[in-house]
Amino acid sequence: MSSENSTGATILPFRTSDDVVDEDRRGFVKKMALTALTVGVGGAAIQSARFFKPNVLYEPSKAFKVGELSKFPIGSRIVIEGRGIEIVRERDGMHAISLVCTHLGCLIKPVENDPDTGYMCPCHGSTFTLTGGVLGGPAPKDLPWYEMYMDNTGALVVDTSKVNHKRTKLAV
Ligand code: FES
Repeated sequence: MSSENSTGATILPFRTSDDVVDEDRRGFVKKMALTALTVGVGGAAIQSARFFKPNVLYEPSKAFKVGELSKFPIGSRIVIEGRGIEIVRERDGMHAISLVCTHLGCLIKPVENDPDTGYMCPCHGSTFTLTGGVLGGPAPKDLPWYEMYMDNTGALVVDTSKVNHKRTKLAV
C-alpha cells in the first residue's frame, strides 16, 4: 500500500525479501491447512455414508429349482452341483438327500452299482445306505432328506432349510 509525504511525493512501501518469504510461507501453510481439512471432512463423510449401508453377506436362497421332472427319469440319481444334494427318483417317488457328511461336513460321493452302500465319504470313510442311513465310520447321524415340491411352473424345487424328517417321497 502506498502513502504521500509532506511534499506530496508518493512513498512506496518497502518490502524486504524476508517479507516475500513470509507471504509464501503463509500461503503454503493455508493451502496445507485447507487440504488437511478437505481430507478430514471427506473421510468423515465416507465413513458416515458406510454407516448407513448394512454390513451383511447375502447367501443364495436355500429354496432353489433343480429342473423339470423330465430331467429325472425313473431310476436316476442326479447330483446337483454346487448345492450338496442328490435327487433320487424311484418308481414310487423321488427325494432330495444331503451329500454333506454328518461327521465333519465333507462332500460325500454317491456309490454306483452297490446294493448295500449308497454313499461314501472320502474324508474318514463313513458309509451310508441308499436312503442315507449310517452303515459305518465315524458319521454320527444319517444323511438328511430335504423338503421337495413342484411349483406352479412344473419345476421341481428343493428347500434345504427344511428337513424332511418323515422321509416321505414326492409322488410324481
Ligand atoms: S467327514 Fe465324513 S467321515 Fe469324517
